[in-house]
Amino acid sequence: MKVVAGNWKMNMNYKDAFALFHSLNNRLNNNEVEVILCPPSIYLSEFSNKLKNVKLAAQNVSSFESGAYTGEISAQMLKSIDVDYCLVGHSERRALFSDSSEVINTKIHLLLENEISPIFCCGESLSDRESGIQNEIIHNQLESGLNGIDLSQLKNCIIAYEPVWAIGTGLTASSDQAQEMHFFIRNYLKTRFKIENDIASQIPILYGGSCNAKNASDIFSKNDVNGGLIGGAALKEDTFSSIIQSF
Ligand code: PGA
Repeated sequence: MKVVAGNWKMNMNYKDAFALFHSLNNRLNNNEVEVILCPPSIYLSEFSNKLKNVKLAAQNVSSFESGAYTGEISAQMLKSIDVDYCLVGHSERRALFSDSSEVINTKIHLLLENEISPIFCCGESLSDRESGIQNEIIHNQLESGLNGIDLSQLKNCIIAYEPVWAIGTGLTASSDQAQEMHFFIRNYLKTRFKIENDIASQIPILYGGSCNAKNASDIFSKNDVNGGLIGGAALKEDTFSSIIQSF
């Protein structure tokens, strides 16, 4: 499956968000690509009633099931308004909101129990890469994030490789660097879940980090890159649409 997901983060007031949603939802009709929009959660309910050509993802979910957790949104609530996907483990949540490996793993379990597909983000920092320990870092993030997950559950997951040094910085991983890490992730999945290539290749692995209309086709041309998780470039209709056409 080819996937392009647009992570709007904490951008756009209602009017602009609705206008962008409306035109993408009506205009996109590329059957070969699953297009997922991740708007701020306050807009999910309205958008979910109007879906045509895009799917919806929440940007976050609570690690608690329900109850006295002021300000939180549960996986059950997301399911009740037909949200199909949810980001988990984004580096901004890890760094700014202290989402630990344990919390990330709990969220992944809660999402899967509620039939929502996690888009599980992993990525190394600049200093990790400069020290050459990026594979070890990704391995550990995958190991803890997918702890207790079985193969039938993995089949409902999307993995996003997002090197932290490339997010919002304008620095993109080269297509070779992306391929190298995606290959590493695919091999990890093969070993961890004891699966052959045909099954492992069905798990989408997306690249994220300053992916834009100029570099997307080079990155998407690589064997183990099944699409992108797009931040800044997802906020403009033309740019985002041309990324979707970049396969
Ligand atoms: P960026 O963000 O495309 O703006 O680098 C990607 C992301 O954070 O998912």
